[in-house]
Amino acid sequence: MKDKHLKRVDIIFKPHSVKYEVLDNTLKRSNEDVLNEVIESGLKGRGGAGFPTGLKWKFAAEQKAEKKFVICNADEGEPGTFKDREILTKVPRKVFGGMTVCAKIIGAKRGFVYLRGEYKYLLPFLNQELEKFNNHLKEINFDFKIDIFLGSGAYVCGEESALMNSMEGKRGEPRNKPPFPTVAGLDGFPTVINNVETLVYSLMICRIGSKAFKELGTRDSRGSKVFSVSGDTPIPGIYELEYGLSVKDFVEEFGDGDTKAIQIGGAAGFCVPRKKFGQTTVGYQGGLNGDSLPTGGSMMIFNSSRSMYNVLHNYLDFFEEESCGQCTPCRVGCQQLRKGIEAVKNGEKPEEYLNQLVKLTETMKLTSKCGLGQSVANSFASIVENFREEMIY
Ligand SMILES: Cc1cc2nc3c(=O)[nH]c(=O)nc-3n(C[C@H](O)[C@H](O)[C@H](O)COP(=O)(O)O)c2cc1C
Ligand code: SF4
Repeated sequence: MKDKHLKRVDIIFKPHSVKYEVLDNTLKRSNEDVLNEVIESGLKGRGGAGFPTGLKWKFAAEQKAEKKFVICNADEGEPGTFKDREILTKVPRKVFGGMTVCAKIIGAKRGFVYLRGEYKYLLPFLNQELEKFNNHLKEINFDFKIDIFLGSGAYVCGEESALMNSMEGKRGEPRNKPPFPTVAGLDGFPTVINNVETLVYSLMICRIGSKAFKELGTRDSRGSKVFSVSGDTPIPGIYELEYGLSVKDFVEEFGDGDTKAIQIGGAAGFCVPRKKFGQTTVGYQGGLNGDSLPTGGSMMIFNSSRSMYNVLHNYLDFFEEESCGQCTPCRVGCQQLRKGIEAVKNGEKPEEYLNQLVKLTETMKLTSKCGLGQSVANSFASIVENFREEMIY
């Protein structure tokens, strides 16, 4: 790495020296001790929403129920995100280990990895790894078993409640919240659902300690993050970097010298134009006017050869296709936005019509039921406002 501000970290992919050492040692510690370690670390969910992991586990642990479940969200459907696939391929045992630590704390006996339908090719390998892992749990007399559930390729099924509906054989549609999954999740029982990366960090925090983890990153964004870097970059791939990185440093490292924009957080995220690189960092504070933008890992780099109209059109096609259609603002809004930008581009509507479309995304943010419809505003407003000249006739 050229810049000292962009620090490479090696927590997630570092191989274990001894097979199950970290897990076995963690399982010997008291639940209170381990839960405090995870809470203390400040770890927040790496799937996008950024909910504090330790708190989620605590809520599920406090529930009194006949059954509880742990689910690993490996649906990885956000455009430009491909890090969970790599984590599952390189260090599956760490993913299963994180699920097992969570199971001990909340009192679950069953766990599931919800695997993205397009990652079906990973099934034979993961089942093989899982058999060894489940056998190890039997050997140490720990009553927890993990299975894999294959998704069917719907983006919305990455949303936790839609994911559980699909596991229950229902339509993959988001549920009303509350109740949250920690209270009524899979089959109505308390369930912790975490992203692949979150589960590995939980386990690794038990190895390195919350103090060492907290020393990385910033107050709001502790630790490090695995990024999927794609687009106009000479070095696409997966990189684990310390949190708090600035977009300017990121672009200097990964861009091709001609970067005009970077999309942080996939189609559901924000587009940052060159003039704002220096004032933007990557982290949890979030928001269009915030100086720190969250991402589940997707970092898509665009150079000056790219049409931002085409980029936005592509996102809107995606949202229109993937909306589950359950609520009107999202189902109709996604279509109207796509048609609207086409009309402005063709000269059928005046430039000012873009302002009405931005207003429509604000309404969608307030009235859509789940994160899909709510997040369309992020890419829409940030592209239209920063690249307005590319949207018009
Ligand atoms: C439309 C939509 C798609 C999502 N897709 C994923 C996904 O593929 N993987 C993921 O971990 N979280 C995804 N999420 C977020 C999950 O609902 C949930 O917040 C996350 O799995 C919780 O795990 P974490 O706390 O470890 O981040 C998605 C959310 C929405 C609204
Ligand atoms: S916001 Fe969209 S994806 Fe979410 S529930 Fe409503 S229609 Fe379905």
